[in-house]
Amino acid sequence: MAVSVVVGAQWGDEAKGKIVDLFAQHARYVVRYAGGSNAGHTVCVDGTTYKFHLIPSGILHPNTTAVIADGVVLDLRAFEIEMAALQEQGVDLSRLRIGLGVHLTMPYHRLLDELEEAQLEGRIGTTKRGIGPTYADKAWRVGVRVADLLERDRLAARIQRVLKRRNPTIERVYGAKPIDADELIAEFTYRAEQIRPYVCDVPHLLMRAVENGEPILMEGAQGTLLDLDYGTYPYVTSSHPIAAGACLGTGIAPNRLTEIWGVAKAYTTRVGEGPFPTELEDATGERIRNRGREYGTTTGRARRVGWLDLVALRYAARINGFTALAVTLLDVLSGFSPLKVCVAYRYNGTETRDFIADAHALARCEPVYTELPGWNEEISHCRTLDDLPRNALNYLHCIEEYTGVPVKLVSVGPGRDQTIYTNP
Ligand code: IMP
Repeated sequence: MAVSVVVGAQWGDEAKGKIVDLFAQHARYVVRYAGGSNAGHTVCVDGTTYKFHLIPSGILHPNTTAVIADGVVLDLRAFEIEMAALQEQGVDLSRLRIGLGVHLTMPYHRLLDELEEAQLEGRIGTTKRGIGPTYADKAWRVGVRVADLLERDRLAARIQRVLKRRNPTIERVYGAKPIDADELIAEFTYRAEQIRPYVCDVPHLLMRAVENGEPILMEGAQGTLLDLDYGTYPYVTSSHPIAAGACLGTGIAPNRLTEIWGVAKAYTTRVGEGPFPTELEDATGERIRNRGREYGTTTGRARRVGWLDLVALRYAARINGFTALAVTLLDVLSGFSPLKVCVAYRYNGTETRDFIADAHALARCEPVYTELPGWNEEISHCRTLDDLPRNALNYLHCIEEYTGVPVKLVSVGPGRDQTIYTNP
């Protein structure tokens, strides 16, 4: 049975939410493996739009169990708001599971992220959701985990210990008001009861599911180029969105993965700071942004927009071991001709097809483009490859040829039906 991973192939926002929703109907478990409330996944079903930040979008399917695995960081204040919104829309959350090893994003993490981002020097352009400080505390082994939350004394001890370190920083480095430990202990003692019914041992749950041959879908957040180790450091998130991160975040062994899907937009976007070789800061970029409604689900920020970067996509294909690609938002490119795709970087006087992840060096790379003829027809009604204009097919072939990965799915709009399976 399939153990599939859906990974963002670029800098996030590749419309993974829609792809996960499509695949989830065949899955017994849909599992978030990394990141936290920095993610924003939008799913449109029968005219209703659902927004997810922490809860796997697979929860919309009645036969799936949605799992927040141990690699995720969970902000319980954000979680409460998300739960309430989904319940209001009639979504049944009883099939949700949360791992004992999940680290909590606490109010001091969010505060520290906000305070740090308010400094002009060294800004990353984060979502200010406290992601970096949470993973930092995890690595420093002063984090608070779901397992701690469930026992009041253990929770109190963890919070007191970490605030002894974080409050002086909040006060003396940033000049902000320290966090009251007693108030926090009281709030989180109450929040423990909100999530207690969902908590379980996720690695064992999933290992058993793998052994029983139950189909599992692992849902990535963010994208390959935001990976802490393999992205454009320091302009990255603090977790591992790549396929290997799915194993780290869930406890499922690498040799159990059967399918690794990369999801890539037909062009490129990025939010936050950091180098972006194919960025378009002109009217063409503005048109793509408007046609693609490129504004963040989580922060509402306008996304930076650019041509498709095949150098970066080939890197993503290799580092993740993609077995298939889903190309999304192809419909956005109608009416642009010619279309440019980046096939190499010029760096230090030489041309290379190898992505340069070092942010400092990448900022000095010049994109080398190939031009492809575009198409004028709107394609959002297309349902088979035969419906697509010839130049749209050529564009897809160019992606396959350059990356060496078959394009098995094409998305031409947000709806479930606006999907073309290339090998139905
Ligand atoms: P953080 O994850 O909030 O720490 O932000 C670090 C970087 O990752 C920033 O450039 C963010 O804009 C980016 N980022 C985080 N989450 C997402 C996402 O879901 N989509 C796109 N970019 C993201």
